[in-house]
Amino acid sequence: MDRLEFLKRLGLLTVGASLVGVDVKGMTSDEDTDADFFDGAEKLDIPVEGLGAKVSKPISVIIVGAGNRGRTYAGYASRFPDAMKVVGVADINPDRREAMRKRYSVPEENCFGDFHEVFERAKFADAVVIATPDNLHYEPCMMALAEGYDVLLEKPVAPTEKECRSILAQAHKYNRIVAVCHVLRYAPYFIALKQVVDSGAIGDLVSIQHMEPIQYAHMAHSYVRGNWHNSKQTTPIILAKSCHDLDILRWIVGKPCEMIAAEGSLFFFRRENMPEGAPERCTDGCPHEATCPYSAIDIYERKKWHTSVFDLPRKDPKLIHEKLLTTDYGRCVFRCDNDQCDHYVATMRFGDGITASFTMDAFTPRGGRRTRIMGTRGYIEGDMTTFTVTEFRTGKRMVWDKKVEEIPEYRGAGHGGGDLALVRDFVRAVAAQDQSLLSSTIDVSIESHVMGFKAEESRLGKRKVAVK
Ligand SMILES: NC(=O)c1ccc[n+]([C@@H]2O[C@H](COP(=O)([O-])OP(=O)(O)OC[C@H]3O[C@@H](n4cnc5c(N)ncnc54)[C@H](O)[C@@H]3O)[C@@H](O)[C@H]2O)c1
Repeated sequence: MDRLEFLKRLGLLTVGASLVGVDVKGMTSDEDTDADFFDGAEKLDIPVEGLGAKVSKPISVIIVGAGNRGRTYAGYASRFPDAMKVVGVADINPDRREAMRKRYSVPEENCFGDFHEVFERAKFADAVVIATPDNLHYEPCMMALAEGYDVLLEKPVAPTEKECRSILAQAHKYNRIVAVCHVLRYAPYFIALKQVVDSGAIGDLVSIQHMEPIQYAHMAHSYVRGNWHNSKQTTPIILAKSCHDLDILRWIVGKPCEMIAAEGSLFFFRRENMPEGAPERCTDGCPHEATCPYSAIDIYERKKWHTSVFDLPRKDPKLIHEKLLTTDYGRCVFRCDNDQCDHYVATMRFGDGITASFTMDAFTPRGGRRTRIMGTRGYIEGDMTTFTVTEFRTGKRMVWDKKVEEIPEYRGAGHGGGDLALVRDFVRAVAAQDQSLLSSTIDVSIESHVMGFKAEESRLGKRKVAVK
């Protein structure tokens, strides 16, 4: 039975699918030995699951940290009120707390400032969503588990391996569900990619190349000026940004990582690279403002990127400008107290000698993870919206190109739909008290987090490190 037949039997191919005319000539010549041989492509029709969770009654949740991520997960309750209800909120920022109180009609007595206050009360909900900053995951998570709550926990789980392992032990001790927000596992694109690899369509998996292009302005926003600029106050960028990628690699390979070696540094955003005469802030009349790609005026005021951090009523350039005068987001990128790497490379060996290489790069025009998967009988290449499977023997090509954002339920759901699909599975798991309904349990998430800690150990210690 050839592989195409094998895929059809698995129902992964549309029977009688039409050619979709992949531009073979657009491939680089060293990838494509014979354009005529690799001709056309059939559509891979892997169903995308809806976002609703059918449960007998809505699960109740408390949002701890009503910022960007807390709001995202709470948003599931707006779309699917029969599945989830927000019954409590904690945030030290009164505006954010109040906004959530109003939006979800949270009773006044269930609104708290600091997260400690939540756990001074007897348990009053099924679950807690922890979406506080990286260094404030451990304590609320330990407290929530001890109180008997199930937890939806933002990544990274915690800033140290020891704390990660303590959370795992606590979840086991109290027999609670902890779902880690490794949202990419829930994105239809990655689900389809994994199904194809698992189907045997490309033979035995041998190696993977995976790249995370951060995008130059996103790097400046989050990891130079913003919340994650300091690896000691939060987590090193391999966890803060790329724990998703290590997790996806571990998931696709399906075998434990045994060895990791990493390199990387902060190459560019350093004081010695500051152009002459650059003042403290871009708004202080910087002579380089008109040409610097990292100009805060250009990124926030003109392009209006990442402005949600300012909590403004509207994207008004005047209001944005005022924020640049006082917040870290107006600072010159060469004068910030940042230490996160702006390029990072890791190589990994998994069970059965499967290898993977990962690169994280700040200096790219756009984001969107790129992945190449090499098997003994075929190859997959994808960019987080589309992937193409090529069979060596037959030259057949199959393309997955579902426009997830065009499916009404998925519209506006971040991370390729993964953000809300994660909440759907969390709701199901809590309602059924069955963590096997989740892909990113605490157990598997700790494994990929350990890969991140070991990568950092390798980078700093300049040696290969065993992953145990
Ligand atoms: N899964 C993903 O893809 C993804 C993406 C982005 C961020 N994150 C992670 O999500 C977490 C939150 O990130 P964010 O972008 O929403 O940050 P954010 O700053 O927008 O939100 C964090 C909120 O926590 C609140 N907070 C701080 N201290 C608190 C305390 N003691 N008690 C209660 N509330 C407190 C802050 O006021 C803020 O509103 C971080 O750990 C981040 O790394 C995950």
